[in-house]
Amino acid sequence: MLAELLLRLTTTAPPEMRRLGLVKEAVWLWSRATRCRKAWAAHEQRCHAVVERAVARLGRHRTVVVLGSGLCRDVPVGRLAELFERVVLVDVVHLWPVRLRLARHKNIQFAHRDVTGLAKWILGDAENRGDPLADLRGNPDVDLVISANLLSQIAICPENWLDDHPGRAGELPADLPSRAIGWHLDDLAAFACPVCLLTDVHMKVVDRDGRVVEETNLVADLPMPTPDDAWDWPVAPFGEIGRHIARIHRVHGYTQWPRTGMREAVNIPRRQAGAPDRERWTPRRRPAAR
Ligand SMILES: C[S@@+](CC[C@H](N)C(=O)[O-])C[C@H]1O[C@@H](n2cnc3c(N)ncnc32)[C@H](O)[C@@H]1O
Repeated sequence: MLAELLLRLTTTAPPEMRRLGLVKEAVWLWSRATRCRKAWAAHEQRCHAVVERAVARLGRHRTVVVLGSGLCRDVPVGRLAELFERVVLVDVVHLWPVRLRLARHKNIQFAHRDVTGLAKWILGDAENRGDPLADLRGNPDVDLVISANLLSQIAICPENWLDDHPGRAGELPADLPSRAIGWHLDDLAAFACPVCLLTDVHMKVVDRDGRVVEETNLVADLPMPTPDDAWDWPVAPFGEIGRHIARIHRVHGYTQWPRTGMREAVNIPRRQAGAPDRERWTPRRRPAAR
């Protein structure tokens, strides 16, 4: 608890990210990842293997961009720093323990960025969605983009903030947070270079008899293509969120995300008041929506 508080207080991030609750989420993720490191190890290895396969297909190794780099656990960032001239880690929050761990790699850069392009719009500081990856897309030195278990997360903080600010929510398109999921896939598809996508797509809560007691689609029901690899990830093993239940995510790994977008499929209503909360990385759940 105290470590979490200290980390929150000593983390720098753009003010709009803090307002949307993303710093808090990043610290909770750090705590959970520390507690669950054994349970997560196999998932992290599978993610690394997908990235290695994506890298092996490349002819050049100038710049690699990692979107949603977070704690840099599911992407072999040290290896990328050896292979590429430049590694750009993009996230809304870069916790200092992560920066410290990677400090010896002088070719790693940390970029604070909202990859949805929605934060300022939601908070009323912009009229529309920005194009969050335009500069990276236009950079001819970028040889690989990796979206690292980010997709299922990008709607959560905006959705929670809008739940708490119904006045502002009423001024915005009703399905805005969920649309971020389709937009991110479109943004990835627009890169000229190869894009590697790692994402959890489905969550189930199981009891000790293996019964499924809850399940949720994590990608707004968008039809995802067949992945190159897929596996189960015990995000919350038994004991983490309850003695007799565990939360397991299905993860898809795409060594090369196809260049076709998702626009046609994106028209998803926001969660209705009273409906179950979206999957969160943290063991804490908000009180039921008002
Ligand atoms: C599940 S974590 C990814 C884990 C990470 N790849 C790792 O290896 O630790 C999701 C990440 O997405 C980031 N994120 C959430 N919303 C974002 C946004 N709008 N823009 C950029 N990053 C975002 C979070 O800060 C978090 O680090």
